[in-house]
Amino acid sequence: MLRLRRYRVFLTCAFVVVVLLYHVSRNAQWSHSQEVWHGTTGSRPHPVPKPPPPPPPPARQNGGGGHVPKIPQLKTSDGVKGSYSLPTRAPASIPDRTPPHSPHDAGMHAGGPAPVPTVIHWTKPVEWFPVADESLIPLPTGKPKPIPPVQFAFGPESPAAKETRQLRMAKVRAEAQRAWDGYKTYAWTHDELMPVSKGSKDPFCGWAATMVDALDTLWLMGLKTEFDDAVDAVRAIDFTTTPRDSIPVFETVIRYLGGLLGAYDVTGGHGGQYRVLLDKAVELAEVLMGAFDTPNRMPVLYYDWRPASNVMPKRASANAGVAELGSLSMEFTRLAQLTGENKYYDAVARITDELQDLQDREGATAIPGIFPESLDASGCNRSAPVPPAPESPATTPGASPPERGLLQGWGCAPQKLARGGWGNGGSYSMGGSQDSTYEYFPKQFALLGGLEAKYRTMHEKVADAVKKHLLYRPMAEGDPDILFSAKAHSPDGTGESLRYEWEATHLTCFLGGMFALGGRMFDRPADVEIGRKLTDGCVWAYSVMPSGVMPEGATLVPCRQPDDCRWNETAWHEHLDPNADYRAKQLEDYYVREAAWEQHVADLEKTEVLRKQTEERRRREGLAGEAAEEEGISGPEAAEDSPRGLTQSEGLLTPGLHEQDLAGGYHGAGDDQEQTDEPTPYLPAKPQTHEEYVAHRLASDNIPPGFTGFTDRRYILRPEAIESVWYMYRITGDASWQEKGWRMFEAVVQATRAGAAHTAIRDVTVAAGAAFQLEDSMESFWLAETLKYFYLLFEAPDVLSLDEWVLNTEAHAFRRPV
Ligand SMILES: *[C@@H]1O[C@H](CO)[C@@H](O)[C@H](O)[C@H]1NC(C)=O
Ligand SMILES: *[C@@H]1O[C@H](CO)[C@@H](O)[C@H](O)[C@H]1NC(C)=O
Repeated sequence: MLRLRRYRVFLTCAFVVVVLLYHVSRNAQWSHSQEVWHGTTGSRPHPVPKPPPPPPPPARQNGGGGHVPKIPQLKTSDGVKGSYSLPTRAPASIPDRTPPHSPHDAGMHAGGPAPVPTVIHWTKPVEWFPVADESLIPLPTGKPKPIPPVQFAFGPESPAAKETRQLRMAKVRAEAQRAWDGYKTYAWTHDELMPVSKGSKDPFCGWAATMVDALDTLWLMGLKTEFDDAVDAVRAIDFTTTPRDSIPVFETVIRYLGGLLGAYDVTGGHGGQYRVLLDKAVELAEVLMGAFDTPNRMPVLYYDWRPASNVMPKRASANAGVAELGSLSMEFTRLAQLTGENKYYDAVARITDELQDLQDREGATAIPGIFPESLDASGCNRSAPVPPAPESPATTPGASPPERGLLQGWGCAPQKLARGGWGNGGSYSMGGSQDSTYEYFPKQFALLGGLEAKYRTMHEKVADAVKKHLLYRPMAEGDPDILFSAKAHSPDGTGESLRYEWEATHLTCFLGGMFALGGRMFDRPADVEIGRKLTDGCVWAYSVMPSGVMPEGATLVPCRQPDDCRWNETAWHEHLDPNADYRAKQLEDYYVREAAWEQHVADLEKTEVLRKQTEERRRREGLAGEAAEEEGISGPEAAEDSPRGLTQSEGLLTPGLHEQDLAGGYHGAGDDQEQTDEPTPYLPAKPQTHEEYVAHRLASDNIPPGFTGFTDRRYILRPEAIESVWYMYRITGDASWQEKGWRMFEAVVQATRAGAAHTAIRDVTVAAGAAFQLEDSMESFWLAETLKYFYLLFEAPDVLSLDEWVLNTEAHAFRRPV
């Protein structure tokens, strides 16, 4: 066993070295081929230099550590490779679209590095692993199956209710207008506005993420002029080049591809006036299709689009986030429906099939029904013996013989999707990096008109697993009937060893909407009620924070039983201080030491008093004698007034006990100690009692009742809570959801308003208004999702009816087939 492990460690190290060497050689080739490129204008560089056979590059896309969807920590520029850089804009193809009323605009563009003259463009490579036409998985055909209505049958509205509703709509629209104006004035054609510094940044390839993401919101709000401005600018986006050397596939698909398709659909689709939106979607999708050219057709999630890399064969990651892999389906499906191109559907249908296999495979996941956070999508079993024949180059009919040579040494035992990552048994939750894969099962079912039953089955298995293993009721003041979804870790990959984190994260707040939607479509009324409790959980988490806004992440106290859930302050305090027993023991220990110390001090004082008396007597006798001889030599008055004076003048007494000694432990110095053999007792600082510790934590950490801590105190303009509130309103027709949503809206706007537009804030446990609070960031989902859901909550319910539309995870609305 040990030998085997050592062998594995050796293999791993060797592998890392090979990957590094491969990178070095690749980069060298890249610089080289770029030179070639420059030298031969207009012709492709020789596509295949002569590299060593590339090893499977599993870790390539994940070098930067775990990626959490929707919290992009992405490089914003290519400083890394040093030898070359690209302009942030294609100067010829993207004119500087300064809007007429934005005086500061020009200044904001001047900040970037000086443009480099040559722009490299993506070119369509010959595929290594193409899918033959006859094996393409086609869109399901036929008449859509009837699906039970999702929306509540709303009746007529009272004039008073209508007035309130429209007033609120106008207020939401005004905030959206403000955010849009900030973007247009200070960050036009960039990915994101920096609302405090009034600058811009480009974390999403520099294709104007906020603009594309906001398109359908602008349209729905009736901001037609703004929409048309944006469409003109979208026309000029060049999706074949970016300053980033890899394209984050998931974020690009949900924000850009979803944004273009949603805007196309809401403006009337084929019957509308905005054909350019579909054309741009196709342009982008063609680039992205390159990411699927792998032996098992699982996509690489960080796609190195540059021609010199793009011509090389590649494999998907052995450490792929399940959300990133599983949340491409709706966008490619909608594109296939709109273009009639089955290849877009084939690309994502293969991922679904793999996920279905994984969901059903015995022992593949610690919680049957749901997936571990990280998946090995490489299709390559490295612990199995390499099969004798390498993968047949005959599968690449388009490839020329020297290119086929690259596949030598690519053989490995094939493998289905498996648990990924290294060294742990996987974690399971409905939160970040997992969420939208689950969200998409019922939504895909709706988008496909109910013609693909597997999405229903997969959703039902997920819902059952979540109910059985992850949902919990927290103990909270007032005993609200709410639910949250926990995160489970399995150290060894089995279901027996699950350990729970009782988390409440903003990303997970989508889950209420998912349960309610699935509950309606699949006639599972209990799930609608679970959706209600989950959504009320997030509403509660907003309401108990001093700012009125829920944090990114916090932890709670689970009830012992859902029906034994009385608020109990003592129990809450025990959770706030799980080390109460240890603390009590420390305190006991302290008291023993203190008693010893006090005894010691008492002994010492006794000795000192004796000595003092002796010295005093001696001194008086001496002084009397001296005074008789010569008068007034030393300062007797001073000596009598202060013992310190005495010590200094005669050096006989030990120093007195000072506060310092009490606090820092007593180290009495002096003749006295040296004469005894007893060690000096040491007195440490007094440990806090459980009560003192809890009181201190509550005061200094601003912890509201029921919470036990924060994993992230920020609010970064996220939509998930209001998203579920909107679903609950549209599904139940209960107007109290509008009231809950309105309170959330007022709190969010108050907390996030910045100089221009709105910004992420640092700490929701501090009441709104403090300047230190403002982070300098407005992600594109603020306009795409958060403000859209707030608006739709007060819009007439037949606008984007859930029986006609289905929204992707970035709130882009796709038309359901009828
Ligand atoms: C990989 O191959 C080994 C040995 O054949 C096998 O035991 C293991 O289950 C395989 N792993 C996966 C994930 O298929
Ligand atoms: C409250 O919690 C404490 C500590 O868990 C427990 O000892 C006590 O019995 C509880 N009180 C009630 C009323 O349940």
